[in-house]
Amino acid sequence: MNFKEKINPNNLPQHIAIIMDGNGRWAKKKGLMRAMGHEKGTKAVREVVEGASEIGVKNLTLYAFSTENWNRPKLEVDTLMKLLVSSLKKEIKTLEENNIKLNAIGCLDNLPTKARAELKEVIEKTGNNNRMTLTLALSYGSREEITHVIKEISEKVKNGEISVKAIDESVINKHLYTRNLPNVDLLIRTSGEQRISNFLLWQIAYAELYFSEILWPDYRKDDLYEAIFNYQNRERRFGKTSEQLS
Ligand code: IPE
Ligand code: IPE
Ligand code: MG
Repeated sequence: MNFKEKINPNNLPQHIAIIMDGNGRWAKKKGLMRAMGHEKGTKAVREVVEGASEIGVKNLTLYAFSTENWNRPKLEVDTLMKLLVSSLKKEIKTLEENNIKLNAIGCLDNLPTKARAELKEVIEKTGNNNRMTLTLALSYGSREEITHVIKEISEKVKNGEISVKAIDESVINKHLYTRNLPNVDLLIRTSGEQRISNFLLWQIAYAELYFSEILWPDYRKDDLYEAIFNYQNRERRFGKTSEQLS
């Protein structure tokens, strides 16, 4: 199916977030090591990054490694970190050519030095690009993020920089790792799992959720377009009645 031509360019989600899941099961099905699944997953990353920027999506956020993923076997964690470094090295050219700005959210201090350095370099080099912002969620957990926000705001209250009365949703937004991003309009999870796994809990308050059965390494541009097409055929009511919208 060709979903690209069915997409209405005037009703694109401003911010798409993806839980890229199923690398391990993809590998297992083929009798391969889990690491192979992660490696093949990088092709799907390239597909959705290109696919999203091609049609004019402004913000794409990919869940690449959760705070909970640190609990996987050390060998797998090491593989994922190495893959992060090599992908960044390889993809910087594509990001530059496509005018894409790289951003990262999460507890980045926990990443290995090499990964942190590589990330910093690509973020700096692509800092002036403005076609699309690609955000990688790395060592990211929404509960960790919210805890971090509470600590920061509490410090400010203690120092008299802000009053308790002045704390509202916009103050909280400004302290989140996603402070420069709009709310998520469309959240996609692949591999058939239907859960959030500690991803962007605050930011998806009114996102449309879309679950795909496809395992991440098999995910392609048209699968993303299908999700966007599906999104465009929903009615987002934000608490109102259908009649109020028309
Ligand atoms: C997603 O694939 C990649 C990461 C979480 C890093 P998984 O590795 O979770 O794959 P499954 O869920 O075991 O199939
Ligand atoms: C969520 O996938 C994290 C990422 C995609 C990076 P997991 O595969 O780790 O999620 P759970 O633990 O099965 O919920
Ligand atoms: Mg998984």
